[in-house]
Amino acid sequence: MTPHVTVKDEGAVRLIRIERPDKKNALTSAMYDALAAGITGTKTSPEIRAVLIGGVPGAFCAGNDMEEFRQAAETGEGLSDSVIRFLYALAACERPIVAAVNGLAIGVGTTMLLHCDYVVASREARFMTPFVNLGLVPEAASSLIAPRLMGQRHAFALLVMGEPLDAQGALSAGLVNVVVDGGEVERRAFEAAQKIAALPPEAVLASRRLMRGSYEEILARIDEEADNFVERLQSPEAMAAFKAFFARKK
Ligand code: COA
Repeated sequence: MTPHVTVKDEGAVRLIRIERPDKKNALTSAMYDALAAGITGTKTSPEIRAVLIGGVPGAFCAGNDMEEFRQAAETGEGLSDSVIRFLYALAACERPIVAAVNGLAIGVGTTMLLHCDYVVASREARFMTPFVNLGLVPEAASSLIAPRLMGQRHAFALLVMGEPLDAQGALSAGLVNVVVDGGEVERRAFEAAQKIAALPPEAVLASRRLMRGSYEEILARIDEEADNFVERLQSPEAMAAFKAFFARKK
């Protein structure tokens, strides 16, 4: 377990919170494991009818922990299994997922939103996927889902050019449902989760399955991206980018 992810149930809503504020909620392997466990555990908890993923004020998630990226690149170990377990858990989750984004959402902080069903963002929220800037490729099946959601050109600007989206941009692109004041994000997200939880659960499940398309296709893309990602992690381009990140304040 990790102190940086908390899981608790409030009525029919499972609240999963990322809490590593000193590192802007960057995700370590232990945190991915805790997130995956919180999500997967809903399978055996029929009383849970919606999941809410949140962060801390100012940071939803700054992506994968850069130190773990650097270590993976240096040792040649590749992407941790924990990352893949988390992505599979997200893709396989049969409960609707609501996200409360109050601040930065970078890398997987943005791509995990593509698996969410309803996203509430603060006016200050910023979404960015600097994969290519880091010498990497997109992950979390974002190369499949983002072009479907926002169209090829918006997806290219986000995923390949690394262009950030502000809250309004994310709203126009269809990445978020609603933009509210920072102080309102949690309440609005919880209300949405409760509203979903109050719907007839079997009809929700069936409708959601129909809307999400082929689960196998999503898993296959997660795997295909991961193969590319592992190769790219050890590239001179990626190593130089990780070094630059840690040298930036010296
Ligand atoms: N992994 C590990 N540590 C991270 C991190 C990450 N992804 N993102 C932020 N941090 C750490 C910083 O190293 C810093 O730690 P320190 O105080 O021990 O030096 C702390 O969080 C605060 O970050 P800082 O850069 O000082 O804050 P900022 O407000 O100036 O910038 C970010 C915040 C998130 C924009 C910036 O830290 C950043 O670009 N992070 C990397 C994001 C990224 O590329 N993620 C991977 C995507 S694939």
